[in-house]
Amino acid sequence: MRPRLGGDANARIHHQARPPEPPPSCDSGTDGGPEMAENGINAVAGPHSSYLGQPRGLLKETSLNILGRVDDLRGPGSQRGSNGLLTRSWTGRSAAWALLLVFVAATTASPGASPALNAPPPLVLHRERSSAFDLEVTGSLTGVAAGEARYLKWSELRALPTTRLNLEGEFVSGSQEVTVVLLADLLHALPIEPGVDAVLATCSDGYASIYPESFISRYRPFLVLEINGRGPDSWPPPGLKFNPGPYVITVSSELIPAVAQFRDIGHKKPWGVTRIELASLSRSFRGIFSGPWAHPSPAAAAGREIWIHSCASCHAGPPGTFGGSKAGRPFGVIAAYAASNPAFFKKYVRDPKSLVPSAQMEAHPRYTDAELDTLIALLTAH
Ligand code: HEC
Repeated sequence: MRPRLGGDANARIHHQARPPEPPPSCDSGTDGGPEMAENGINAVAGPHSSYLGQPRGLLKETSLNILGRVDDLRGPGSQRGSNGLLTRSWTGRSAAWALLLVFVAATTASPGASPALNAPPPLVLHRERSSAFDLEVTGSLTGVAAGEARYLKWSELRALPTTRLNLEGEFVSGSQEVTVVLLADLLHALPIEPGVDAVLATCSDGYASIYPESFISRYRPFLVLEINGRGPDSWPPPGLKFNPGPYVITVSSELIPAVAQFRDIGHKKPWGVTRIELASLSRSFRGIFSGPWAHPSPAAAAGREIWIHSCASCHAGPPGTFGGSKAGRPFGVIAAYAASNPAFFKKYVRDPKSLVPSAQMEAHPRYTDAELDTLIALLTAH
């Protein structure tokens, strides 16, 4: 099992001077507004979620309306969606500005902080790796052929707009200061192709985390660059028994309180991240969006959400489906368990060690019967 990093991120946030950007050009009134109720299928976790292996909830599409629906990472700044809601592109200046303003308003103690006026320069995509602390980037990037990788240097990431958070017990016990780049800011600095709607983070041990754009815009995950002023070349920080580097992506319930309600939030807190892929969910998970899964029952569709947000961190799906390689179990085997012995399947998902003491799979104890039934509906749909 992947070791867990510390407890809940109780953060205090300090902004470093951010590079100037132009003033907002359209309303930002609804962005970052009050949290919507979580949808009923998800149990609510306690306020303290540990870093890894912690049960995690589904992505709640309905809750995204409050932020404005985000259709494409790269599209025009803002447009009317067919549902009449104002839709904003992720990279749209106004959306970035709205988020920045909300973020500043919500998290800084200095109300006079005035945002600056120029966007940061785009990141340089290096063709060759220069060190073990480079972050590999793949996927739909302008000018990068499919299957090719590029590399981002830590020092260049560190030069992006950063935020300092004071976290409690996150990596080491007690209070610690971490310097982070919001994933959204990182993406703004990359030449993303149209159609990208997710970031897939892959770790050195084959674990993976999936960040749909809706998750990114709502829950504000970030890349950790320094812990107590030390970069990954001097990790682990004193007090942490394993090296979480080269990169950690995580979320903070202090930054966005709603993350505390994510049951499997641990699957959005990968350590050992070496690569991010700019991806399209429907392409990366086309195996479970096509064939028998092209028109899923409502239950199977709900199960697909769980699969993508939780199971895919370790399990690859049917051919054409992204997933981590940690589990090393073919999708067919998982599906066979679901079909032939649902009781075993449910018990295994909730508490693998209760059935197989040597099991490596993390327990997912908060899944309700109804949720596990949706997973079974997904797995038995073919
Ligand atoms: C942290 C990694 C991880 C995650 C996340 C994960 N699994 Fe697993 N899973 C494993 C590993 C590793 C095995 C192989 C047996 C073991 O060591 O537990 C496994 C085995 C299984 C098995 C038993 C198959 C067998 O051959 O023993 C089932 C069923 C299963 N997983 C279903 C799921 C479902 C459904 C989800 C999502 C809710 C999920 N897993 C999420 C790592 C994971």
